[in-house]
Amino acid sequence: MFQRLKALFGRTPKPASEEALSADKIPQHIAVIMDGNGRWAKSRGLPRMAGHHSGMKTVKRITMAADRLGVKYLTLYAFSTENWKRPKAEVEFLMKLPQEFLAIELKELIEKNVQVRMMGYKGDLPDHTLRAVEEAIKQTANNTGLVLNFALNYGSRKEMIEAVRLIGEEVQAGRLLPGDINDTHMEGSLLTAGIPNPDLLIRTSGELRISNFMLWQLAYSELWFTDVYWPEFTEEHFYEAVREYQRRVRRYGGV
Ligand code: FPP
Repeated sequence: MFQRLKALFGRTPKPASEEALSADKIPQHIAVIMDGNGRWAKSRGLPRMAGHHSGMKTVKRITMAADRLGVKYLTLYAFSTENWKRPKAEVEFLMKLPQEFLAIELKELIEKNVQVRMMGYKGDLPDHTLRAVEEAIKQTANNTGLVLNFALNYGSRKEMIEAVRLIGEEVQAGRLLPGDINDTHMEGSLLTAGIPNPDLLIRTSGELRISNFMLWQLAYSELWFTDVYWPEFTEEHFYEAVREYQRRVRRYGGV
């Protein structure tokens, strides 16, 4: 039946739950704190790395779901500036995931018109990680579809300190008066310059924290938390978050 429908319409029919979402209120930018890989693995008697590896498959699933929904930006918190404190073997494993993911998925990402980007501090990344990510960015630079933005060695406090430093340099050079500093200067100096602030933040695994993620950018985002661990987070959970987002009324401090 499914194959026949596909043949008839020339594309995969949308699952019913996806149809239920209203097409005119799709969040433009969704940011995700992908948490719970370690606990998922532990609950199955597996090493933590198995959780991260399984989490990589969720990245594919959710990227494709976001693309189908017409989300414009998907930012995924893949490694924080604080994650270097983890055991060396775990850090090394995490640093290999982008290249493994891209080796498998880049072809399809290119076909789907996805633009791969990275937000974070490149200097500390191992060469092999950076090379894989930069190659994917290069190969998808002319695409015009979903922006898949990996937050890799990203930390929001560092990002804000760097932004303040850039603005300070403008002041020191006499190009800007301290009294004229406003939101626009700050937004233009953050790693998200040119990208709209997230409409929706999703955090998996039951933790109710922001964990140094996009502190400035999330000021008016809708927050959605679930107990589900990232490796078992499905398209259905993702649609549920978007459905809840569609029910919210955003007031931005107004009435
Ligand atoms: C937090 O869960 C997760 C991370 C620090 C890593 C997230 C990385 C992935 C989901 C894979 C990334 C894939 C690509 C393609 C870059 P945790 O390990 O802290 O889980 P725990 O809190 O249960 O221990």
